[in-house]
Amino acid sequence: MSIKLNSQAITMMIGLCALLTFIACVGSTDSGTQKKQTIRDEVEEVVGSTSTAIAKEEEIVYEEKSVDPEKIAKAKEIIASVSDEDIAQLDALKLFRKNCAICHGRKGNMKINGAKDLTISKLTMEERVANIYFGQGLMTPFKGVMTEAEIVATAKYIQGFRE
Ligand code: HEC
Repeated sequence: MSIKLNSQAITMMIGLCALLTFIACVGSTDSGTQKKQTIRDEVEEVVGSTSTAIAKEEEIVYEEKSVDPEKIAKAKEIIASVSDEDIAQLDALKLFRKNCAICHGRKGNMKINGAKDLTISKLTMEERVANIYFGQGLMTPFKGVMTEAEIVATAKYIQGFRE
């Protein structure tokens, strides 16, 4: 009785071993190398796309966005209404640091929250004033937050980042 059980158990164990060996072989040869290849492909894909992303990041040049003509008209009005003396009385550096540096950084190139790099921006004075007054995308409008003179002074000040 006990011998019979033992031989049954041995047969089962041999069978199990054979099955495991078979699975291990199949796993390590075919699907194993295949898996490795797939992982390698994926890694190459990720590395490849990151390096292209880095390359793209380096050559970002902002196209001049056509700002709404109505906004440009308002910006021209604002600029005309502000005299040089009005601007001279203001501390543009302080205004920029207080209102803008949180996203653009003190040197204009921080790009926090998707803010554009002001050192490579190509916007005209009118477009900048319109942009600051009305806001754009994630940039909040400064209409009512800063006076018109302050907006013009800041728009002038940021031109200095381009040099
Ligand atoms: C809340 C963050 C934030 C603050 C504060 C902020 N900006 Fe911006 N700014 C942005 C973002 C985001 C953009 C890009 C908007 C877009 O194109 O969608 C931007 C774009 C600009 C542009 C346009 C650049 C281009 O070439 O298109 C100018 C100019 C600008 N900001 C100036 C200023 C000035 C001046 C101030 C302060 C009075 C200021 N910003 C405050 C986030 C901010």
